[in-house]
Amino acid sequence: MAIVEVKLPNHQYEVRIEPGILKRGILEPGILEGGSLENLGSIVREFAPASKCAVVTDSAVNKLYGESLKASLEKSSYHVQMIEFPGGEAHKSLQTVSSCYDSLLNSRLDRRSPVIGLGGGVVGDTAGFVAATYLRGVPFIQVPCSLLAMVDASVGGKVGVNVPQGKNLVGAFYQPKVVVIDPNTLKTLPHRELLCGLAECVKHGLLADEELFAWTRDNVRSILDLDPETLVTLISRNVAIKAAIVAEDEKERGKRALLNLGHTFGHAIEKTSAYSIQHGEGVALGILAAVEVSCRLERCTREEQKSIEDLLSSIGLPLTAELTSSADLLAAMKLDKKVLDDAIRLVLLNRIGEAEVVDGVEESEIIAGFDRIRS
Ligand SMILES: NC(=O)c1ccc[n+]([C@@H]2O[C@H](COP(=O)([O-])OP(=O)(O)OC[C@H]3O[C@@H](n4cnc5c(N)ncnc54)[C@H](O)[C@@H]3O)[C@@H](O)[C@H]2O)c1
Ligand SMILES: [Zn+2]
Repeated sequence: MAIVEVKLPNHQYEVRIEPGILKRGILEPGILEGGSLENLGSIVREFAPASKCAVVTDSAVNKLYGESLKASLEKSSYHVQMIEFPGGEAHKSLQTVSSCYDSLLNSRLDRRSPVIGLGGGVVGDTAGFVAATYLRGVPFIQVPCSLLAMVDASVGGKVGVNVPQGKNLVGAFYQPKVVVIDPNTLKTLPHRELLCGLAECVKHGLLADEELFAWTRDNVRSILDLDPETLVTLISRNVAIKAAIVAEDEKERGKRALLNLGHTFGHAIEKTSAYSIQHGEGVALGILAAVEVSCRLERCTREEQKSIEDLLSSIGLPLTAELTSSADLLAAMKLDKKVLDDAIRLVLLNRIGEAEVVDGVEESEIIAGFDRIRS
């Protein structure tokens, strides 16, 4: 078990990482009797004592973990309202939010009643937005179940939904009371989703922690085998990196931009593939494009580029993809909401463990970045 503290200027909370916590006290009823070990229900009660609570989840995750969480909450004397919606980015929407409000109002949840998000980043962002706005804000608790949600989406307080005009355009900054992670849930996560989460982990090492990059390289096998101890280390180290960056820059005015390493390229790749390339795959490819530009601008070395390619490849992430024309990719990049006044702002790598936001990179360099990953 590991605990990472997230320390923001006005709010502090814990991310607790413990294999088996989700099913504790349910599959092994005896365990709680001694009172020595907590289960999820008792943690929720510690942070949000109330008579009722709601669990927001998607259908796939509900089938796998909904009953366990519900039973655990009921054991801690909550009356539990389960709210399920179909999974997928298309349902991270105001319609879903609205139907959550209906359920919460119908079951008369009050201001003290926590909303618990159980699922991947889609659930976390949606449930967080519901918690931030229902009755002007109720306690929010995150139980992320995908690797991406564990190491990225559940840290930093960004909550929100997509609208027809674009992704994540409506939302808020709203911090959870506590985040509880059971790495055992990764056993049921589709392999492709696991790899997508690992792309974000590689990104964290690259931009902030050379030692984490090396540790990830040395532990790829046990990570992919989902060894519980290794996963606790992987998740806690990655949460700590994101937490440290967010603590310095909660509202994304400075350092938090570094987390976009690989993302400006990645979003353009995802979008022009009509999303047949998933986010994490786009990020992996985007990192490689950014690293190519960084090498060309003599920021990092070709040896470093080789070790980054080796790591991504040993994980099973793509090094190349069929891409559309450079003109289309550049146009997609310029439409990205993080691009200011038509000038493309990139995060480049100075060395493994250090990145920098750079403005005014020549378009020819960006095209060379795309060419590096074009199959
Ligand atoms: N708030 C933030 O700071 C932040 C950061 C990064 C990404 N995001 C958001 O996160 C979302 C992507 O999150 P995601 O990659 O987790 O996608 P997701 O929530 O769609 O989950 C991926 C798929 O895996 C399934 N799943 C999740 N956990 C599972 C488990 N343990 N076992 C079996 N199936 C499981 C889900 O049902 C879904 O089908 C995007 O909407 C993105 O915008 C938010
Ligand atoms: Zn990302």
